[in-house]
Amino acid sequence: MPVPPSDFKQALSRFASGVTVVAVDVDGQTYGMTASAFLSVSLIPPLVLVSVAKKATMHAHLLAGAPWTASMLNAEQAALSNRFAGYGEAEVEWARDTGGGPRIVGAVGWVACSPFAAHDAGDHTLFVGQVEACGAEDSEPLVYFKGKYRGLVAG
Ligand SMILES: Cc1cc2nc3c(=O)[nH]c(=O)nc-3n(C[C@H](O)[C@H](O)[C@H](O)COP(=O)(O)O)c2cc1C
Repeated sequence: MPVPPSDFKQALSRFASGVTVVAVDVDGQTYGMTASAFLSVSLIPPLVLVSVAKKATMHAHLLAGAPWTASMLNAEQAALSNRFAGYGEAEVEWARDTGGGPRIVGAVGWVACSPFAAHDAGDHTLFVGQVEACGAEDSEPLVYFKGKYRGLVAG
């Protein structure tokens, strides 16, 4: 018997994650999409993965092979997460020094990727990217848990 989608969503909402914005430049236009289904995959070669809904605008861009950058949002950038999830307005400052897709200035970390592989996964595709450049800052990350934005609790 299949798991009801509401049970699935509720269970997975208990997995705390960071929040990234995956971005590409295509034909002189910038597209960004908020994604928390992001993970480190391999060290040699350096690979990361993002899971993108087939119905998302970003899906076609990644399938076409656009280089992309994932910016890991900082604790002050919740408005950017909302903006790139399709609701709300927020000013964004892009930097184009990655050699790949644009990165968000002030993000706590970022990885610029060339396409490595794409794996079909139900209503999503798993896009594996090879990290060509990356960077890190010392700010606090934005955390997503139970459908809400949080900060880190010092342990
Ligand atoms: C915190 C958060 C995390 C999200 N993570 C993902 C994700 O990992 N993969 C995905 O496909 N959509 C994810 N979404 C939803 C997309 O951001 C949203 O559907 C997308 O921006 C819609 O873009 P479009 O209207 O241009 O297709 C997330 C949304 C939020 C608010």
